[in-house]
Amino acid sequence: MHTQRSDHLGARLSTCSGFAAPKPSMRGLLASLLLACLLGGCAATASHDQLYQDLGKLDGITRIADGFLYYIGDDERVVEFFAETDIDRFHSKIIEHICAVSGGPCRYTGDTMVDVHRGMDISEAQFNAIVEHLIQAMNDEQVPTRAQNRLLKLLADLHGEITGRAG
Ligand code: HEM
Repeated sequence: MHTQRSDHLGARLSTCSGFAAPKPSMRGLLASLLLACLLGGCAATASHDQLYQDLGKLDGITRIADGFLYYIGDDERVVEFFAETDIDRFHSKIIEHICAVSGGPCRYTGDTMVDVHRGMDISEAQFNAIVEHLIQAMNDEQVPTRAQNRLLKLLADLHGEITGRAG
């Protein structure tokens, strides 16, 4: 389903990029199409929220968050961190966070990554364990690998803020 969506995107983009060498007789028509493309089609299709779409929008992200929490709860390497956590809040903030970083229509209203994780002294192994659970949850939802990698890259950029260490 996701593949079809990106195939569709590819097809629409290549339609739009075919304006490079128009035949003179076609110029008027192509100019109109180009205008339509710029005003609506292409701009809307090559959208900033492609990752959000590939994650399955809010429903998909909610299911990913459900799985993520489930895997964390089952992992003794990290579960202790969450002993005092308000799980409902964590669940909703994670959804907001993933929605916002993936370009979705959400505003993250939680605390900053630095404030939340300050003093937790999270090791590399523990950080990786959390990432592993996110990957597992995305696999369960059949998120395409390319989309997974895009999200992981965005989250990897937060490594320093979360662990307090560069890298
Ligand atoms: C990919 C990296 C991570 C991201 C994007 C992330 C994101 C978040 C978010 C959005 C919240 C909710 C903030 C709020 O309630 O305002 C949170 C809370 C929390 N995170 Fe992370 N986190 C990451 C990695 C980790 C790691 C590696 C650990 C520990 C092993 C961890 C432990 C916690 C804990 C314990 C809380 C709840 C804090 C509380 O009880 O108030 N996080 N995180």
